[in-house]
Amino acid sequence: MSLLIKNGRILTATDDYVADIWCDGEVIRQIAPHIESPADAEIIDAAGKYVFPGFIDPHVHIYLPFMGTYAKDTYDSASRAALVGGTTSLIEMCCPSRTEKPLEAFELWKSKAEISACDYTFHMGVSRFDDSAANQLREIVNRGIASFKVFLAYKGAFGIDDQELFDTLSLAKELGVIVTAHCENETLVAALQAKLLAEGKAGPQWHEPSRPARVEAEGVNHLMTFAELTGAHVYCVHTSCREALEAVQSAHLRGVNAWVETVIPYLTLDKTYAEQPDFEGAKYVMSPPLRDVAHRDALWAGLRSGLISTVATDHAPFDFHGQKEMGRDNFTLIPNGIPSVEDRVNLLYTHGVCQGNINLNTFVDVASTQAARRFGLYPRKGAIQVGSDADLVVYDPEYRGTISASTQLMDVDYSAYEGWEILGRPSVVTVRGEVQVRDGEFVGTLGRGQFLSREPTAF
Ligand code: URP
Ligand code: ZN
Ligand code: ZN
Repeated sequence: MSLLIKNGRILTATDDYVADIWCDGEVIRQIAPHIESPADAEIIDAAGKYVFPGFIDPHVHIYLPFMGTYAKDTYDSASRAALVGGTTSLIEMCCPSRTEKPLEAFELWKSKAEISACDYTFHMGVSRFDDSAANQLREIVNRGIASFKVFLAYKGAFGIDDQELFDTLSLAKELGVIVTAHCENETLVAALQAKLLAEGKAGPQWHEPSRPARVEAEGVNHLMTFAELTGAHVYCVHTSCREALEAVQSAHLRGVNAWVETVIPYLTLDKTYAEQPDFEGAKYVMSPPLRDVAHRDALWAGLRSGLISTVATDHAPFDFHGQKEMGRDNFTLIPNGIPSVEDRVNLLYTHGVCQGNINLNTFVDVASTQAARRFGLYPRKGAIQVGSDADLVVYDPEYRGTISASTQLMDVDYSAYEGWEILGRPSVVTVRGEVQVRDGEFVGTLGRGQFLSREPTAF
């Protein structure tokens, strides 16, 4: 059966017009002011609604062994949640430990995703670099991966040293692979954590002071120096503050190929959430931490100017009960992460577009198109063009609703946005021409998601 979406207002990163879209055989076949309905077509009336390209979340954690526990979602819950929220492709961080073999880890992460209802791919984590790892990373690139991930944080866990960073970036440069990086100076974090704990400062409100903006900026500057000297293309994940943006700006002036991601919690929350009493603040512990509200203006400005390319989630779900509680007496033991894969698009629309922080084209660009371009998916994804995958979001700007843990599909026992109003939502979501969400409900098929094989683009 084919699909005819009629009379929608089509919004891409660059265009804004009313037309019909006919999808057949998983791709968009025709876009025109008026298309006669083919006999077999299901017709979706999109009058009064926006039609966006399927949104892409370029930074999620679903299978994640981390801080003595595991992130809560599986691809069953996370892919359904993503789709209901308008996200049709996920890029998950594959995060092996230092002792895991890269190829085995890649195949393990891939096997976890086989039940996905939406499409997916991975940034391949490099937590150790030696000759054997290098050979396996080459093979992983041959198997369709076009981006690596490094952590300059998490001392003793995922974090790599400077020699490994240099070697990873050199290999990436040779292969044309972009390197995504968590930028915080791990030595400073460890020293500040120890100092605060020694002073008896153990609650979640001390998480931010243990990793202040300067610690993040130092990490970004460090990455920029290595990128400059190797020529590798780099992408700073979950950028939270003005100082980090300034470090990238300065690197751009030196010719460094660097891109910036921020995430929806930094655009909508601030550090006062992590300062709430009775350990409630633990729900808002992530790294880098939520910042002073003043940083938000810089992030919105960065999105408008193009300094920031993407808005992801860094979806990392840990239950409040039993998981976040592991750090009740010591904030350094609170599993880091905030769940938001279901809410990113609606929150960005509500707080970005409706509040006048970004326009509709920028909204599509930062939530879909730029991720596709950066990570070798464009124009298959992130576009509404003849030949592109028919991943489409028919978005109802008249819908009014409230976020709540009691109704979410994410498998986690709280919402960081409990009671927040949203001013719109996806009413229909398609993946490669099949309806997966109708009237805001998941109606799709687990296992239909495809692994998105990618070619290196960072030359
Ligand atoms: O707090 C965070 N960001 N948790 C997930 C792991 C990471 O650093 O991305
Ligand atoms: Zn990170
Ligand atoms: Zn992350």
